[in-house]
Amino acid sequence: MRNNASMPIEFSERVRRIPVYPVADGYALPDDVAMLASNESPDPPLPAVVAAAQRALAGANRYPDPSNAALRRALSNRYGVAPNRIAIGNGSCDILLAAGEALLEPGAELVYAWPSFSVYPHLAAASGARAITVDLDDEHRHDLDAMAAEITAATRLVIVCNPNNPTSTALPYADIAAFAARVPHHVALIIDEAYCEFSLLDDPDATLDLLARHPNLVLLRTFSKIHGLCGLRVGYALCGSEAFPQAVNAVRQPFFCNSAAQAAAIEALKHQDAVAERVERAIVARVEIEAGLVELGIDPADSQANFCWFDLPEGSDEAAVVKGLAERGVLVRAGAALGRAGALRVTYGTPVQNARFLDALAQVL
Ligand SMILES: Cc1ncc(COP(=O)(O)O)c(C=O)c1O
Repeated sequence: MRNNASMPIEFSERVRRIPVYPVADGYALPDDVAMLASNESPDPPLPAVVAAAQRALAGANRYPDPSNAALRRALSNRYGVAPNRIAIGNGSCDILLAAGEALLEPGAELVYAWPSFSVYPHLAAASGARAITVDLDDEHRHDLDAMAAEITAATRLVIVCNPNNPTSTALPYADIAAFAARVPHHVALIIDEAYCEFSLLDDPDATLDLLARHPNLVLLRTFSKIHGLCGLRVGYALCGSEAFPQAVNAVRQPFFCNSAAQAAAIEALKHQDAVAERVERAIVARVEIEAGLVELGIDPADSQANFCWFDLPEGSDEAAVVKGLAERGVLVRAGAALGRAGALRVTYGTPVQNARFLDALAQVL
């Protein structure tokens, strides 16, 4: 074969199918910009958590524990799920992508709502499976009846995002329990609970008891949101059987969760009082921002998360609003990149940042 300098590398077909993840701007901006675009915590990790990560860094010449034994034990103690039914990941996204690899292939189907978390479309694209997307209802919530109707002999995976990103809405435990009872046990059901701690609808841990009834159920959670550790990348899945952890571990490299992340997560679990305080602050922000939006004539979705979602007033130019807010030091997410043009997703920040957002929005509109 002759070499031709202008010939590009030939990548696989799946690389052309995979959508580009809509990353937020703002990583090189000054500190006083209100970063309300990525559903992060405005609070830094607790000092004890930082110290635990630092201690782990001193041993970084060693590989991390590939079995994540201490972290799975700590999660097992916290949630009462056996360690062999717990999967760990380099962020919960890692577990999602591994689930796609372990469950999906051409001819298979997966079902999820839309708009929902922007990583879900990646699963079908990467595997060649067919994505069946089901519209949210008029209140921006999952339509579980419509989703159940889409389950066929080809379905391998159903994902319910509760609370839903980007729309912030959640369904009550009773609806989730009834839906889980309708999904056949050979179909994996992932309830993505990245934001469950922020929901006031039910006890965030109410779904745990479903694990005993449904071996196909996976509760996907993360240290990224309520624990403020997204920069370290650590998530986990509480599962109805050990089959799911075994399968997602089989398709990944052995050392998917670094030692600083494992140590920080173990420490974070010891500070449930801080979790409760963070939830309280998020709820105060929720109430204040919702009141501010209503004053501007906006009707936000019923948020059960650490962010809000709303349609802009008719005739507004979404891109111009996002740009106007950025010029005033507030970064938010445009709905167009998340599945619904004309909407905005705004993460709750500190009280000062939230006030700046409401002021800036009033000016821009
Ligand atoms: C619904 C949902 N699931 C999962 C994740 C992934 O979080 P991580 O990979 O940081 O655990 C996110 C992050 O934004 C999310 O919104």
